[in-house]
Amino acid sequence: MAMVSTSCSQFTGLRRSCLKLDSFQSQSFIPHTNSSIRFSSSRKASRTVIAMACTGKFFVGGNWKCNGTKDSITKLVSDLNSAALEPDADVVVAPPFVYIDQVKNSLTDRIDISAQNSWVQKGGAFTGEISVEQLKDIGCKWVILGHSERRHIIGEDDQFIGKKAAYALSEGLGVIACIGELLQEREAGKTFEVCYRQLKAFADAVPSWDNIVIAYEPVWAIGTGKVATPLQAQEVHVAVRDWLKKNVSEEVASKTRIIYGGSVNGSNCAELAKQEDIDGFLVGGASLKGPEFATIVNSITSKKVAA
Ligand code: PGA
Repeated sequence: MAMVSTSCSQFTGLRRSCLKLDSFQSQSFIPHTNSSIRFSSSRKASRTVIAMACTGKFFVGGNWKCNGTKDSITKLVSDLNSAALEPDADVVVAPPFVYIDQVKNSLTDRIDISAQNSWVQKGGAFTGEISVEQLKDIGCKWVILGHSERRHIIGEDDQFIGKKAAYALSEGLGVIACIGELLQEREAGKTFEVCYRQLKAFADAVPSWDNIVIAYEPVWAIGTGKVATPLQAQEVHVAVRDWLKKNVSEEVASKTRIIYGGSVNGSNCAELAKQEDIDGFLVGGASLKGPEFATIVNSITSKKVAA
C-alpha cells in the first residue's frame, strides 16, 4: 500500500492532534488489568495530525474464514459490487483460498483481496500450504496473520507468525497482524502483557511497519456476539500505540492503523468507530452479508462527525 500520497487527505484531521490520555492514566477500563502498566505521559506529542495525514486511512477488512460456496460467494460479491462505499476507507476481503480467483475475477477493484494465511517462506515441498508468491500471482494484496483461530486452534506461535509476517512483507504483501487476549488472560489482568508479547514477536521479525495494519481482536469477542465496549477497545488501542512509540518509533506509533475485531456488526460499528484510536475493523460473521459489511465500512462517517 502506498504510504504517502499527496492526493490522500481524507483522514487528515479525523484524529485530534493530541490524545486525551489523562483519563487513561488515572483509571483503567479493564478490570484486573495489571496496574503496573501505565501509559507514557510524553506520548501526547506523537499523535500529531501531521504524522497521521495521508497514512491513516480508515481500514475495514472482511474475514470470510472457512465459509461459503461458489453460489453464496457469487451473491456476496454481487452485493458488494452494488454497495455504496464511502471513498475514504481502504476495504479488503479475505475469501477462503479456493475462492480467491473467483472473487478476484468478479469483485470491483474498489475492494482489495487478502488471504487468510500464507506460508512462512518461499513455496516448494510444503504439502497443503499456499505461498506468498502464489497469493501475489492471483492478485492478493494483503494477508491476515496471527489470527486467534490460527494461534489457538492450529497452534501457531508468536515467533512463527512473526516470521510469516516478515516473509510476506519482504515479498510486498500487506500484513493484517492480529493480536488479542483470551478471556482467562483478561480476567487474570494480562491483557496488555499478552498484546505486548504478540506485538514484540512481530517487531522482532519485521524490518518495517510501513505495510502493516494491527488488528486488536480480543479472543472472547470473536464470533461470540460479545463485542468489547468502545472504551475497552480504545483502552487497548491506546496501549498498543504507546507500546509502538516506546519500542519502535513515534512515527510508527502515530501512523500505524490499529483496527478492532470481535463481533463488530452494523449496529455497534458507529460507536466503536468514534473512538479516536480505532482506525477501522476486522469483521468476521458480519462480513458475509454485503449490505451489513457496507454499513461497517461506512461507519467512517461517524468518525468524521466525532472528530
Ligand atoms: P467476528 O470475527 O466478527 O465473527 O467476531 C472477527 C474475526 O475473527 O476477525
